[in-house]
Amino acid sequence: MSGPTPILTVELTVGDLTLDDLTGLVWSGSAHHLGNLAEQIVRAETGECRMLGLALPTGLLIAIGGVDFRARPGPSIAGAATQTDAMVWLLSVHDAWRSLGLGTMLIGRLELAALDHGLDRVVIEVEHDNPRAATLYRRLGYRVVGSRLDSWRTRPDQHYLTVVTVMAKTLSRPTATSRCAGGAPG
Ligand SMILES: CC(C)(COP(=O)(O)OP(=O)(O)OC[C@H]1O[C@@H](n2cnc3c(N)ncnc32)[C@H](O)[C@@H]1OP(=O)(O)O)[C@@H](O)C(=O)NCCC(=O)NCCS
Repeated sequence: MSGPTPILTVELTVGDLTLDDLTGLVWSGSAHHLGNLAEQIVRAETGECRMLGLALPTGLLIAIGGVDFRARPGPSIAGAATQTDAMVWLLSVHDAWRSLGLGTMLIGRLELAALDHGLDRVVIEVEHDNPRAATLYRRLGYRVVGSRLDSWRTRPDQHYLTVVTVMAKTLSRPTATSRCAGGAPG
């Protein structure tokens, strides 16, 4: 393409996911994944976690993620998370909207939610074969603190087993300005 580069500014809305949002999230994973999201959205209503989404002005969700205030670390291979950590998980950006800063923005909001909940250390677990996500977390200040085996059901008769790297970051309280700008603390 030639000619001047068109610039489009898009105003995104950040909000708590509801069960009604699930129909618009088929891009984010399998039916089993959507079932898990539904469970976490219900948990969020009890205050145990927050599930956030970024939506276009049309209402279409293009990024989701959660922060669990009650995460219990699994058995570690090396290193360990403490039980007072918040865990950021279920991060997913629509593949047409990646590498534009949405993951960074969402993690910043989830970190603020952890601070609002009184937790200032956040853990993210990333699969050993996902270097791009690990690089992003490192850029955001997360450091490797251990690794562990993880497994989850992918179909009623099938479990997936993997090794995850545990990364952690201690948050600092954002200034009023950075908070208004929605920036990531720390
Ligand atoms: C991992 C994931 C959530 C990151 O989301 P994202 O929106 O692509 O993340 P960001 O755009 O904030 O950052 C990613 C990269 O884009 C770059 N970037 C950010 N803003 C940018 C911009 N305005 N212009 C150009 N590049 C930009 C970042 O520097 C970063 O580069 P890096 O990969 O070299 O570190 C997303 O890729 C995803 O959903 N992946 C599939 C599911 C997954 O792996 N989930 C994580 C499980 S732990």
